[in-house]
Parts: sequence; structure tokens; C-alpha cells
Amino acid sequence: MPVTGALPERGRDPQEILDALAQFGEHDPHYKNGRLWSLVYYLNEDYHAFQGQAYQQFASANGLNPTAFKSLKRFENDIIATTSALHHGTPEVCGVVTSGGTESCLLAVKTYRDMARATRGVRRPEMVLARTAHVAWLKASDYFGVSIRWLELDSQLRADVGRLDKLINRNTVMVLGSAPEYPHGTIDPIAAMAAIAQRRGVPLHVDACVGGFILPFMEMNGVNLPPWDYRVAGVTSISADLHKYGYASKGVSTITYRTLEILKHQMFVSADWPGGVFASPALLGTRPGGAYAAAWAALQYFGTAGYRDLALRTMQAFERMRAGVLAMPELCVLGDPSGPLLAYGARNKAVNMFAVGDQMELRGWQVNRLQQPDGLHAMITAQHLDVMDDYLRDLRASVDAALADPTLADKGGAATYGMMAHIPLRGMVRGRVLDMFANLYRPGGGEIDLSAAGTPSGSDTSHTHAPLVERLARWFVRLRQR
Ligand SMILES: Cc1ncc(COP(=O)(O)O)c(C=O)c1O
Repeated sequence: MPVTGALPERGRDPQEILDALAQFGEHDPHYKNGRLWSLVYYLNEDYHAFQGQAYQQFASANGLNPTAFKSLKRFENDIIATTSALHHGTPEVCGVVTSGGTESCLLAVKTYRDMARATRGVRRPEMVLARTAHVAWLKASDYFGVSIRWLELDSQLRADVGRLDKLINRNTVMVLGSAPEYPHGTIDPIAAMAAIAQRRGVPLHVDACVGGFILPFMEMNGVNLPPWDYRVAGVTSISADLHKYGYASKGVSTITYRTLEILKHQMFVSADWPGGVFASPALLGTRPGGAYAAAWAALQYFGTAGYRDLALRTMQAFERMRAGVLAMPELCVLGDPSGPLLAYGARNKAVNMFAVGDQMELRGWQVNRLQQPDGLHAMITAQHLDVMDDYLRDLRASVDAALADPTLADKGGAATYGMMAHIPLRGMVRGRVLDMFANLYRPGGGEIDLSAAGTPSGSDTSHTHAPLVERLARWFVRLRQR
């Protein structure tokens, strides 16, 4: 259906509307069969319906004012207490439910910027991020004017902790560690980083947006993990997403701090607004009651045993993928992943990973591409255990196809991703991407045509930015012809 923006003259029949919604969804990635390797954490229809019911009960409730809907504050208290216990927090650990990982990351930067300003008079704030920090931290740098000092990676793609001390100075407001980092699934050397940060009197935040609701259960299942949570003395705060491995409906993450003194710097208070005295703990004004209820319900539904079981199945899938990739002499695992994320690249330089990605898409898999180094990425969930054999069979075939026809590297998505990853003029790429991305938001919604955006077999060049990638491809081809 074309985008018309026209409000119907009369309201439509509810069933007709629900049918229309289902029709729109037909063009979305087919995540229910385990073919999508990011964005969604799906189990089955029964659980999906249960989450919907929990959400629906509080869909109109608003957590803006925590004293109005006491139910929502109760959910928040329970969620934070559970999170803190899982992360071995002391009784002083406190926190806030947020709308997602990005909000949690943004808040940490704002909090530590303001804390450094208030307690140490820091006017030119800086933070230390490993190159593998999630892009949300780059966004936070941009939004809050906190410059980045990059902690480079060692040859194993690990944050090189030996360089950290030199990067800290009187303007440093925080150091970041990830558990695990998004690109390769490696847990940063958090104990060593925290020891340095603590000695230099700087807070250390752990981004456990991915790991926060799976690493604790992996550990309970006997997996040997490096320390990353509040058991590490220098860790001052942790972000952890319920809408990822907590299997809650979208829109819920947590940020916890070692003390209320730190959390206070996150809060906003206005005593003089004509609308009334106003206080807010996080970025949002209105906070969605449904999402809080569904997150609370997820924790109650699984309990420790349920999450341990999910972690077990996820790790079985992870181990099978790792073993399957390592068994292919042309490929290598990138970094030192502990799970649940896994990325792989080319050991044999004749294999173009973006061509392999295109081949996987042709076979109905929707995979994310990585750069520096080039690779393919998987956010593995319990659901993927059932499809792992098929995935590995198709990966073998995709590598063979890419090797057999080197020209695949110059076609389709491979050409675009290859150019985007390797073209030296990064500022030009950024400017071009911005123009094209903005175009998606022009009046009328750019070129999002739902009837054309993807096919049920998932043969798009990218499940996230298909129209953007296609336009970039055309631009790159023109650029090369000059
Ligand atoms: C390590 C890490 N931090 C933060 C985020 C941002 O989370 P969200 O997409 O919920 O905003 C992600 C998302 O994948 C992530 O992997």
C-alpha cells in the first residue's frame, strides 16, 4: 500500500485494521524460523502471546511520575533488585529502568560528565572507549560533548589494557568496558581495566547490554568467564538489556550504579517550571507501563531455571557454530568470544566475506556484516539451536560459491559493503550515508515502499537498510567509474 498519510474519514473496523497490520508484517524479516541473526530475541508464539497480554494490561499506564502508578514503580524496584542480585551488587546498588540499551549508554555518559563537572570541575570531558565499544557510545559522545580517547585493540582484537593508563588524564570522566562487546563477542579485560581506573580515581562502566541477562546464567551452568560485574571493585555501573537476552518485549533496559550518590547525577529536577515542580530519573518523559509490566513478567516467567535453560541451549548453538566455522579452513573466528555473539572472517584471503554474506542471503539467511576486519556476525539465541545444521551447511556452500566466482565480490551487496568498508575517504562516506539516510525521512517517507522492501525468502541485500544499501551501491559504482 503506498504511503498516503490520509486519516480515514471514518474509523475502520478493528478486524480489518488488525488484518492490515498482519499484511504489513509480511514484508518484515522472517525471524520466527530462526533465519534472522540480530534484532530479535524470539522463542515461540505462546511466549510471544504471554508477553503481549502482560504488556496490554499496562499499555496505558505511564511511569512519568513514579508516585502516580505505584504498580510501575513496584515493577521497576523488582527489576532493578533482580538485576543487581544477578550482577552481585551490594545492598547499596540502585538504578533505573530505561527504554533500551542506547538510553542506558547515553545516561551513563551524561551521569559521569555531570559528576566530573560537579566534583572535579571538569570542563572538557573525555572518556576512554575501546574500538569495539558499541556505536551507542559514539552517539553519547556526540550528544553530550564528551570526547573519545580510543583504546586500541591487540592482535587478538582485545582492548589493549596496557595502553589504558596513558589515556587517562584529569579530563577523563569514565572508562568503558563491555561484557561482551558487540562486534566480536569478546568480554573486555574488565578486572585489569577497573584496577587502573580505580587507582586513577575514574569510574568504570560495564556495557552488559548483551551479556547482562545471559552471562550470569552461563556462569551458573559452569561456564568459566572472566569477572565483569560488581564483584570487580572498580566497576561503578552496569547497563543490561531485558529486551535482549532477558526475552522481554522491546523497550526495556536497566542502568544500575554502585551508589545513589552517583545515580543522583543522572537525574533532572526543575523547581521553577510553570507546569509544576518536575523531577525525572532518565531521558524519557512518559515511560511505557506496558514494557515495564512485560519485563517484570518475563523475569517471573523464566526464573533462574528458565534462564539457565535458555543460556544452555544458546551456548550449545554457539559452540556448534564456533566448531562449524573452525572446521572450515577458509574461515576464522574473530576475537575471543565467550558467547552468545560470534563473528567470523576469512583466513583464506581469496574468500570475500561480503560475497559470502550475499550468498547466505540468497539461501534465505539474514546476517549482519562487520568491517575492520571484514566479517559476518551472529547474535545467537536458544532458537538458533534448531537451525544450526542448516546454517552451517549453507555457509559451506556460500564459501564455496564465493571462492568459485571471485567476481561476486564486485557485485550486489558485496560491492557496496566492500567499498563502504575500504574506501579511505571516511568523511565522504559519512556525508553520503547521512544524505541518503535523511532522504528516508523526507516528507512522505522517502523510498520505503512496503510492497518492494524485501521478500519472504529474505533476499534483500541488508535486512536493516535495504533501500539505503541499494542507493549507496549505485553511488559507489559511479564513483569507481570516475
Ligand atoms: C554492547 C551493546 N551495547 C548497547 C547496545 C544498544 O542497545 P539498543 O539497541 O537496545 O539500544 C547494543 C545493541 O546491540 C549492544 O550490543
